Amino acid sequence: MAKLTTSLVVLVLWLSLISYAYNVHATRMAHWPRGSSTRFYDFKIQTLKITKLCNTKELVTVNGIFPGPVIYAQEDDRIIVKITNETPYNTTIHWHGVRQRLSCWFDGPSYITQCPIQAGQTFTYEFTLVNQKGTFFWHAHVSWLRATLYGAFVVYPKPGVPYPFNYPYQEHILLLGEYYNKDVVQLERATIASGGNPPVTDAYTINGHPGPNYNCSNNDVYKIDVVPGKTYLLRLINAGLNSENFFAIANHKLTIVEADAEYTKPFTTDRVMLGPGQTINVLVTANQPIGKYSMAMGPYSSAKGAAFQNISAIGHFQYLGAVTNSVSLPAQLPSFSDNLAVKTVMDGLKSLNTVNVPKEIDANLFITIGLNVQKCQSKTPNQNCQGLNNGVMAASMNNISFIKPPISLLEAYYKKMNGSFTEDFPGVPLKFYDFVNGAPNNIPNDTQALNGTRVKVLEYGTRVQLILQDTGTVTTENHPIHLHGYSFYVVGYGTGNYNPQTANFNLVDPPYMNTIGVPAGGWAAIRFLADNPGVWFMHCHLDIHQSWGLGTSFIVKNGEGVLETLPHPPADMPRC
Ligand code: C2O
Repeated sequence: MAKLTTSLVVLVLWLSLISYAYNVHATRMAHWPRGSSTRFYDFKIQTLKITKLCNTKELVTVNGIFPGPVIYAQEDDRIIVKITNETPYNTTIHWHGVRQRLSCWFDGPSYITQCPIQAGQTFTYEFTLVNQKGTFFWHAHVSWLRATLYGAFVVYPKPGVPYPFNYPYQEHILLLGEYYNKDVVQLERATIASGGNPPVTDAYTINGHPGPNYNCSNNDVYKIDVVPGKTYLLRLINAGLNSENFFAIANHKLTIVEADAEYTKPFTTDRVMLGPGQTINVLVTANQPIGKYSMAMGPYSSAKGAAFQNISAIGHFQYLGAVTNSVSLPAQLPSFSDNLAVKTVMDGLKSLNTVNVPKEIDANLFITIGLNVQKCQSKTPNQNCQGLNNGVMAASMNNISFIKPPISLLEAYYKKMNGSFTEDFPGVPLKFYDFVNGAPNNIPNDTQALNGTRVKVLEYGTRVQLILQDTGTVTTENHPIHLHGYSFYVVGYGTGNYNPQTANFNLVDPPYMNTIGVPAGGWAAIRFLADNPGVWFMHCHLDIHQSWGLGTSFIVKNGEGVLETLPHPPADMPRC
């Protein structure tokens, strides 16, 4: 006990020292919005031996915890996380949804804003949660390491600022994940080398637990104990790798109040769908007869013919007084291909208040997103060309498959080093065709994409509209497209090819998101003001698509005014 007290005293002294240091610092940065405190976290990237699904393996975690530790903060707080990499794997951490105002160096995507933190090295991330609160998460942004290297990041409103809904009795974090029995770094490498599709996940998980539907998992179940009559806030986070998921609780309604860490108008539904990278807060009232109810996470798989894990992860929503070993009431999930269920939830997402959407547009970009099959170049096609028609699977934006550069784009841009990227990412597809039903090349079945590290440069303050158009080149599919450095207004979406004549836009209260599930065989229109200088990755948050090249980057130049210039890189920036 005495020991605990002493270490607490030391911790408190140390924390006040840190905040003192920052107070001094802050007086020199008069305009910098800052919160009441600085929060310090020490993340040791470590491997952890774990047995799950009757299989034992080493997985990569933070501080030996899986899922990783939760970061708690308040709006406008300064966050400092020291990473020490004690594993043999290269790593970086991305703070998903944090807009990184003037702190692009700390965004985390490998080879975009930094080189990986190598075995034995350290790197300290520092950023301020400027005007941001809600449910975020952090995850590795290297290879497929985020399969196990992830955790929640919860930002509360400032003291005295209430939620725009009745204060819940309690809150719970629900991290939806995918668990692989094999080493995920090797799995990515093997998948890319094969040229074919990735294996499906061995299990879906809720806070790391697959639940009773899986082998050896009867006791590996996440459970929430609830008091009858009370209302709970559930922070849902899809931290999965390659699948989109439905989530529902048996006999209970979910009221969405926040999406991607921005408040929404309350919308009540039986289920939600989250693509990887999306977060949704829902309120659930325990207003059913005392009992044990299932919380279920199952697949939403919109790609035709694609394999997926069909077994749902189950958790328990258990009333106080329920018979502990009773069977839980099953939750009703939509069928895996229920596009309408997805649309219904999307239709319900509106910003809580009227928002300031850019009405005039300076840069109107049209970007197709989809899969490709590259011609086999290998001398051992049986091993390396296992994609469709004996080709190699790829993915692209505007039919350009993104190749990661050898050094980080941000460093190359900042230091004006030539040769690792080109500034010619096209603002429209190189060729117009029937995107949803046709193919980009004239020869049937030739769906070859170009390869390149092409970026789009934007002047500071550009008002941007992106039309993201899904293609049916290999198959139409819902793609969760994520933009770093910004949130964007989702002003419209629909099925088929985008048609400006018939598209309906909401410029009043569209949701403000960081990841948009572009409808399968459809389009989405997003708008944002490019006022955060740096290099910002935009990519599909299905990791396999990212590995196949479904991404590009924006360079947003410095502005002329105060606080419109990207600061120097930190001294401990990892080298490639
Ligand atoms: Cu959540 Cu670029 O990632």
